[in-house]
Amino acid sequence: MVFLEVFDFKLMREMIRRLYVVCFLSLLTYSVNAQMSMDYLSADFHKDRREVLRAKMPKNSVAVVFANPIRNRANDVDYVFHQDPNFYYLTGYREPNAVLVLFSEKQKDKSGKSFNEILYVQRKDPFKELWNGKRLGVEGAKKELGFKEAKNTEEFFTNGINFKKFDKIFIEKFKDDYRNSEGNLTETYDLVTHFKSQSGYDPIKFVSGVKRKVYELIKATPIENSANVAQAIGKASTYYPDLKQDELIMQYKDAGNNALKKELKQKIALQLKSTSNIDIEFLSTRMAEMREIKTPEELKLLTKAIRISAIGQVEVMKAMKTNMSEIEVQGIHEFVYKKYGAEYEGYPSIVGAGNNGCILHYTENNKKKIGNELVLMDLGAEYRGYTADVTRTIPANGKFSPEQKAIYEVVLKAQDAGIAACKEKNAFWVPNNESKKAINQGLYELGIIKTIEEEHSYFPHGTSHHIGLDVHDPGTYGKLKENMVITVEPGIYIPEGSPCDKKWWGIAVRIEDDILITKGQPKNLSKEAPRTVKAIEDMMARKSVLDEFILPSLDD
Ligand code: GLY
Ligand code: MN
Ligand code: MN
Repeated sequence: MVFLEVFDFKLMREMIRRLYVVCFLSLLTYSVNAQMSMDYLSADFHKDRREVLRAKMPKNSVAVVFANPIRNRANDVDYVFHQDPNFYYLTGYREPNAVLVLFSEKQKDKSGKSFNEILYVQRKDPFKELWNGKRLGVEGAKKELGFKEAKNTEEFFTNGINFKKFDKIFIEKFKDDYRNSEGNLTETYDLVTHFKSQSGYDPIKFVSGVKRKVYELIKATPIENSANVAQAIGKASTYYPDLKQDELIMQYKDAGNNALKKELKQKIALQLKSTSNIDIEFLSTRMAEMREIKTPEELKLLTKAIRISAIGQVEVMKAMKTNMSEIEVQGIHEFVYKKYGAEYEGYPSIVGAGNNGCILHYTENNKKKIGNELVLMDLGAEYRGYTADVTRTIPANGKFSPEQKAIYEVVLKAQDAGIAACKEKNAFWVPNNESKKAINQGLYELGIIKTIEEEHSYFPHGTSHHIGLDVHDPGTYGKLKENMVITVEPGIYIPEGSPCDKKWWGIAVRIEDDILITKGQPKNLSKEAPRTVKAIEDMMARKSVLDEFILPSLDD
């Protein structure tokens, strides 16, 4: 397919016009229902989520949530569109350039009609739909997504909403990686620009995040205790370099006398007062509270994504040969996902043989021959928006060497300990702590570290995060609760040159499963992918249909 400008524009217009006449009728008869009839979340789910959010909002407030924009890849080719997860969760709308405006109470328009939410969506446009696919449009948004009030995006510019009258406007952090559409007036850039001007958004006044916390700390701390605050700022600014850009904070940290500190304190208090009614924290926290607990509808889709991913691991175990490349292994997994109708990978696939497995987010996957190495495969399918996150580490030749097995058994034991700790009411980090203990014990017993307390970098990450619409789904990271789904993913990575016996070098093992927290025992949703040494070796000894899949060689 080519872009319009490659051709004579008039000729092209005429060609399109003719094609258009032919296609238009068939486009019209293509029911939007056909798009929506697959097993996506129901309109009721999204409506319920909006009601839950509304109930959390204070009086006289409004939430404004933008859809993801389209990002350009090169020339006339864009990246595959992926919806913003919060926007999707609240609306079910899967197109770009849209806005949800959700009010805490009913509003009235000029004609007296009342509403408490509006979804602005892309206008139906047969020409654009001919090139880029179907749009749901206003009627579709009403009929399929259950919105009483849906409008074309153009109407966002004349919506008459007086954002300044609200005590609070809740937004997410603006993404700033979308194009300036230069007056197109239907793209996210325009919607955001308009919203910023209508709401009086002023980044100078806008004190948020860690900066706000530091301002509040300074405001609340008596001058005689300011030395402690200055010290805390010094420490915090190494983790949050943005603090170093704030003149008031830096001046306060370095102030040599109390009179100056007092003056700065007053300026900071004033600054806090003069901040706008825009709040960037509320929505992300409330959405995390909601999204960390999965509803039955979500669990159905998430379980499917996880099962697809686990079955992908099974097929790779059967098919793996030492002369395969990392990318070929990746391809087998992804073929299995697609065969089940999963739309995407939930994150860039990781297939690392030997030392490559030591790079935690290795995505080059370009080793030509996996040879006799251990292959670490961290792969997750995304199914109807929900993504799995499953890692298996297997010996390319089908048999673990003694060293590979020794490390594998330590990680497996650590994972068992982590999974056993996935109990309701445990603090979120208990599985991590249990796994860490077991890893340290195992490394010590193998002589890789000299004491159990020794600081080391063989396990440089935590074991657990939520999964859902994001692979690293938002959560509050308090206590584990029923219907959360979290990963348990301990690992040991021993890069070449590590301070231990050479026999361990280049061994990397991660085992990652997706665990449902229940009222009783934790439920391993990815258990279809073998986990023990014996189960993996047995699976790898089995035949694969791909054994017969031999393509012609392109080597000269
Ligand atoms: N696949 C990314 C992770 O395990 O967190
Ligand atoms: Mn993970
Ligand atoms: Mn992973």
